[in-house]
Parts: sequence; C-alpha cells; structure tokens
Amino acid sequence: MSPTPHFYPLSSTAPVILMFLKAFAALAVIGGLFGTLAVGSKFEAYDAGLFIPFEDLKALSSRDFTTLAHPLFPNTNVRIKKSTDFCDGSVNAYTGYIDNGARHMFFYFFESRNNPATDDMIFWTDGGPGCSSALGLFMELGPCRVTSANATTFNPYSWNENANVFFVDQPIGVGFSYADYGEYVMTTEDAATDIAAFMAIFFEHFTQFKGRPLHMTGESYGGHYVPAFAAHVYDQNAQLIAAGATPINLTSIMIGNGCTDYPGMLDSYYEVECAKHPVQSLSFCMSMKKAMPRCQKWLKESCLDIFDTVSCSAAMTFCTTNLVAPFFVTGYNPYDITKLCDGTIETTLCYPIIQTIQSYLDQPAIRQQIGVDPAVTANFTACSSTVGALFTAAVDSAFPSQNYIELLLARGVKTLIYVGDNDWICNSVGNEKMTLNLDWANHDDFGSQPLKEWSVNGKAAGQTRSSGPLTYTTIYGAGHLTPLDQPEVSLEMVKRWISGKGLL
Ligand SMILES: *[C@@H]1O[C@H](CO)[C@@H](O)[C@H](O)[C@H]1NC(C)=O
Ligand SMILES: *[C@@H]1O[C@H](CO)[C@@H](O)[C@H](O)[C@H]1NC(C)=O
Ligand SMILES: *[C@@H]1O[C@H](CO)[C@@H](O)[C@H](O)[C@H]1NC(C)=O
Repeated sequence: MSPTPHFYPLSSTAPVILMFLKAFAALAVIGGLFGTLAVGSKFEAYDAGLFIPFEDLKALSSRDFTTLAHPLFPNTNVRIKKSTDFCDGSVNAYTGYIDNGARHMFFYFFESRNNPATDDMIFWTDGGPGCSSALGLFMELGPCRVTSANATTFNPYSWNENANVFFVDQPIGVGFSYADYGEYVMTTEDAATDIAAFMAIFFEHFTQFKGRPLHMTGESYGGHYVPAFAAHVYDQNAQLIAAGATPINLTSIMIGNGCTDYPGMLDSYYEVECAKHPVQSLSFCMSMKKAMPRCQKWLKESCLDIFDTVSCSAAMTFCTTNLVAPFFVTGYNPYDITKLCDGTIETTLCYPIIQTIQSYLDQPAIRQQIGVDPAVTANFTACSSTVGALFTAAVDSAFPSQNYIELLLARGVKTLIYVGDNDWICNSVGNEKMTLNLDWANHDDFGSQPLKEWSVNGKAAGQTRSSGPLTYTTIYGAGHLTPLDQPEVSLEMVKRWISGKGLL
C-alpha cells in the first residue's frame, strides 16, 4: 500500500505506489487546441465583440450556475455560482465546473480576505494521483477546517489571508469531478489543457483579475502535475497574445512536499528511514541498500533512456517492493515519520479527520450549497483508487517533471520548493537533491549557497537556500501536510514568497 492523501494506497496487498501520468505528450495538445484558433474568422468574431465579459463575480447567482464561454476556447465552458457563506463567511466563495466535452472538473474559488481587487491569485491542487483538493482545502490551507460532519471552523492561517485562491479537483474522477460516460482521465495532458483554458476563461470574464500575478501550487503528487500545468499556461500565453487577449501573469510555482522526481525520491528512502530517522530494521536497511543501484539502473534504462511501458512498469514494481514496502511494516506514518499511523493507511490514511471531511461533503445540504452536479451520485472519496491505478498503469511517476521546472526557470517563472522536515513519502532529502540537480543557468550558484535558517515571529522555521528565481526550504516540525502541521509558518512563507521578499 501506498501512500497518500497524496499517495494513495492502491490495494492492501500491492505495495505499489503510484502514479504516472501519461502526461507528457501533453504539450502537443496545445498546438492542436490553438491550431483551430489561428483562423481569421474566429478572431474577427472575437474582435467584433461577440464576447462580452461577465465582469462582476458578485452578480453571479447563488442558486443556479451561470455558464461562461469564450470564443477562443470553443470546447470549454465554465459553470459557476456564488456559494454564499460557505467555509469562510468573511469573503465571497464561488464553486463550479470546468466543462470540456464529457469532462467536468470541480473547483472552489475564495476571494482574498485582504483585498480581492489587488491581491495575487493562487491555484492549488492536491496529489495522489487521485486525491481531491478538498483535503488541502478542509484540513490544510483553506479558509475553514472541517470539525464534524456538520461543522467547520474559521482558519485564521488560510492562504486566502492575502490572495485569491482556487482549489481544483483534478483529474476527472477525483472529488466532485466527473465524466459523462464514466470514463476516467489518466493523463495530466487532458487536465493540463482544461486547467489552462479555465484560467484564461476566468481571467477574460472577470476582468478585474486580468494581469494579476498567478502562483500555481500543489502538494505531493501535485509536485508532479504543477510544472506541467504551468508549462501549459505559459505556452497558452503565446496564443492568447496572438489572438489579442491578455496573457496570464504566470509568476511562480510553489511545490509542497512534492514527488516531482519520483525515481530520485526512491533513492532517498534509505537515507530517511535508515539514517536520518532510524526507524527501520537493519535487515531491511541492508536489503534496501542492495536494491538501490539496481532500481536506479533499471529505471534509467527503461523509463528515461527509452520509455518501454512494460519494462518501466516492472522496474517500478521492483523499486516499490524493495524500497517503499519495507516502510509500511514499521507502523510509522509515511507522511510524518515522527509519529505512528493513526488508524491504518487503508481506512484513515493516518489522518482520521479525512473520514470526517468525507462525511461533511456527503451532507446533501452541503452538496446543494456548492452545486455538486446530480450526476455525481457516489459518496465522496478523498482519494480515487481507480484514478490512482490508471496513473500507475501508465507509469506516470517516472516522467521527469523536474525538466519542466528547468524550462520554467529559464523563462523567468519563479519556483519555490518547500518540504516539511518530517515527511517520509516525498521527503526533504529527495527534494533537496532534486533542486541541486536541476540543469539551469544558476545550477552552480544555487549549489554553492549554504542552507540558512529563517524564522517566523522570532522562532526558527526551517532552512533555505536560493539563487535567482529558485528557492528551496524545509519547514521544521511539519510532515507531508505542511500547512496542517505548521499553519502559521506556512502562511508566512506564502506571504513572503508572493510579495517577492524571499524567506530570510
Ligand atoms: C447534519 O445536520 C442535518 C440537518 O440538521 C442532519 O439531518 C444530519 O443528520 C446531520 N448529520 C450528522 C452526521 O450529524
Ligand atoms: C505581473 O505581475 C508582476 C508582479 O505584480 C508585475 O510586476 C507585472 O507588471 C505583471 N505583468 C503583467 C504583464 O501584468
Ligand atoms: C454512502 O455512505 C453512507 C453512509 O456511510 C452509506 O449508507 C451509503 O450506502 C453510501 N452510498 C453509496 C452510494 O455508496
């Protein structure tokens, strides 16, 4: 089993984790999408004023969805409603669906508690693959925390303290997202295209947000998605400019406890559980050490040098059996190695509050309030094992998402990699190594920077190094779910990052 609010336990017998989006042909899709746009008549229609922005979010109905379209995205509509007094209470909340053909992706949008008219935009996705962003919303960085099936409390450390925040259930099959024909999406490619179009349609309709800095953020396997999503938004901008529309001000990506470079992460487990936090038996440590070079060689040859699904999949099974599975017999929480699992991975993912969040989101009144489509008949599941299994089948986790980070850095998109120190599953050892290995202009300068301690309200918060647009930091006293474990530090980190001040 595997991990997850973020790494989902795929089955109780197969200690296979993960993921893999087939994603990567992804960018080609953009060409296709815009290929149809490069037609004069479309632009004439656009120029002729057939597109009228909706303009005022507050004018949206709280009863029914309003459907937003845009001539540049003929395949995509956004259904959106006001969800009065939902979760926050002090700001306007909106929910809805991004509709693309048979695919319907659910989102939540909370305005900033500070100044929605000038504050930055943050996009958030959870990981899994297959886990709902409701986890991030209701137990980590959202405006409220679920406390019972019928109650929430105000979260003073929500990231909408001074940013407008989106939470998206993606890909299809996750949370309240659904497909008309019961099909699932197993690649980030579809999700990335839909998300980029959603961002553009949203900004085009609600013009007060046009040009506003956008920070794309994700956790865990979200660290695998976010670089691809940001790359789609970046490439889409060229098309928006060509069509005379306003490009999206993609300013940064933030990745929390990411498994961006999963093969690299596999290599870190020995150090984390046998050295840094020695919770593992010597005999398992011994067998892990022996398996490491074989795992790395096999992954390199079958997943990176060439991509052979069968061989890559076999390599991943070998690696997870030998390097991941041993941890799960220890009884420790894979998301916080300083604790034992509370419950079991299969039932609680070590966090019983997840069951409460599920009950909360199954209340008919809540579903009605936020506009969950009647087509979503199943009970809410925090993490979809179906989606997880599809990504695993595609061996998506072997895709080197860190290469997108290199490309984004080179184009001036800032990157923050933050990691709760006590995480095992997507830990600081693997993440630090990933950042040090990035092939980009400041590689040497970044590597030569010492880790420096930064603090919040006079208290040591973590250790950081940065060079130009790239910052890496640890967070003391936090596991995988950094904003849950260290809410105040997390919020302060985000405030400093989006203000461009740096953490120190
Ligand atoms: C939540 O409140 C509703 C309406 O008051 C009630 O019908 C329902 O049983 C409650 N659910 C739980 C789990 O307490
Ligand atoms: C993007 O946001 C940054 C930071 O606020 C700002 O300096 C810049 O002018 C914006 N760019 C555009 C094209 O609006
Ligand atoms: C949803 O959960 C409730 C309570 O746990 C259960 O009684 C019901 O059968 C479930 N419904 C579906 C469609 O799984």
